[in-house]
Amino acid sequence: MSRILVTTPIPAPGMDILERAGQVDVRRLDYDGLRRASASGHYSVIVSQLRDRFDAPLLRDSSLIGISNYAVGFDNIDVAAATAAGITVANTPGVLTDSTADVAMLLMLATARRGVESDQFLRAGSFTGWEPELLLGSDVSGRTLGLAGFGRIARATARRALAFGMTVMFCPRPPGDRVVADDELGEFAGRVQHVSWSDLVTDSDFLSLHVPLSTSTHHLVNADVLAAMQRSAILINTARGPVVDEAALVTALRDGSIAAAGLDVYEHEPALATGLVELPNTVLLPHIGSATVSVRSEMARLCALNAAAMVGGVCPPHPVNP
Ligand code: DGY
Repeated sequence: MSRILVTTPIPAPGMDILERAGQVDVRRLDYDGLRRASASGHYSVIVSQLRDRFDAPLLRDSSLIGISNYAVGFDNIDVAAATAAGITVANTPGVLTDSTADVAMLLMLATARRGVESDQFLRAGSFTGWEPELLLGSDVSGRTLGLAGFGRIARATARRALAFGMTVMFCPRPPGDRVVADDELGEFAGRVQHVSWSDLVTDSDFLSLHVPLSTSTHHLVNADVLAAMQRSAILINTARGPVVDEAALVTALRDGSIAAAGLDVYEHEPALATGLVELPNTVLLPHIGSATVSVRSEMARLCALNAAAMVGGVCPPHPVNP
C-alpha cells in the first residue's frame, strides 16, 4: 500500500480521503527531517503545509512522486526543481477566494476606521462617552482602491469594494505593465480602471496586494514605492509577506510616509519585523485569509483528492507543474 506523509493533520474530510488512499503517517518535521523522509523511499506523496520548504537540493534527492500542498500558494516549493525531478506538485485553488477577499476588506475597514485601536481603547476603560472627535478615521466609500494583481482574489476584492462605493483600479502583473483586453475583464469591463504600476502606487488610497511571490514580486513594495505613495494611503497585504520590504514598511509607518497598514502575512512568518507590533497604525492578523471552517474543510478535500490521484498514478485535479 502507498504511504502518504502528512506533515500536519488537515480537517477530517481530507484525512478520510487520505486514509482510504494509502497508509497515512502524520509527522511534523523540520527541514532536515523532511529531506530525509523525501529521500527515504518510504513515501510516495507528501501532504505539505506552507512552512514545509521543498528546495532544489531536497527535491533532487527525493524519491517522491508527488507533493500536495495544503494551500493555493506554492512559493514554499521550487516547482521547476520538482518538475525536473519528475515530482508532481498540486494545490487547492478557487475555494479560498472569497474568504481571502473578505479579509482584505476587513483590513481596509479596520485600518481606515481604527477598529482594533477603538476596541482596545474601550477595553482599557478609556471610553467615557461619545465625543465629537473621538477616534476619527477615514472613509472607505468614495475612495480609490488600487489592486496589485487582477486574479481571482483581486477580482473578489474588487466586487466587494465596488459594493462599498469605492473607485477601483488595477495593475494586472506589477511591476510590469501587461495589458488586459476588455473581454478578459468580464463583469468588470467599464467598472474598473487599468493603470500602470507607478500610477497605482501614487493614486491609490488603499493599495491591496494580490500577487504570487516570485523573484519579480519579492519586495515589490520597497522603500521607494512607500515613499511614492500618498501620506494618507493604507497598504493591505493578504498575499505573501516577502512582497513587502517589512523593515522599510516599519520606517514608512513610523515616519508617516503612509497612514496605516493592514497585514495578514509577514516577510519572515511567523516572526515580525522589529517595531511592527508597537505601531498603533497597523492591524496585524495571523495569516487567516482562508481560516473559515468551510473553506479549510474544502481545501482539505481538494488537497486529499490531489494526493489520492497521485498515489493512484493519475494526474491530480489541480496540478501546478507546467
Ligand atoms: C494559501 O492557501 O496560499 C493561503 O495563504 C493560506 O490558505
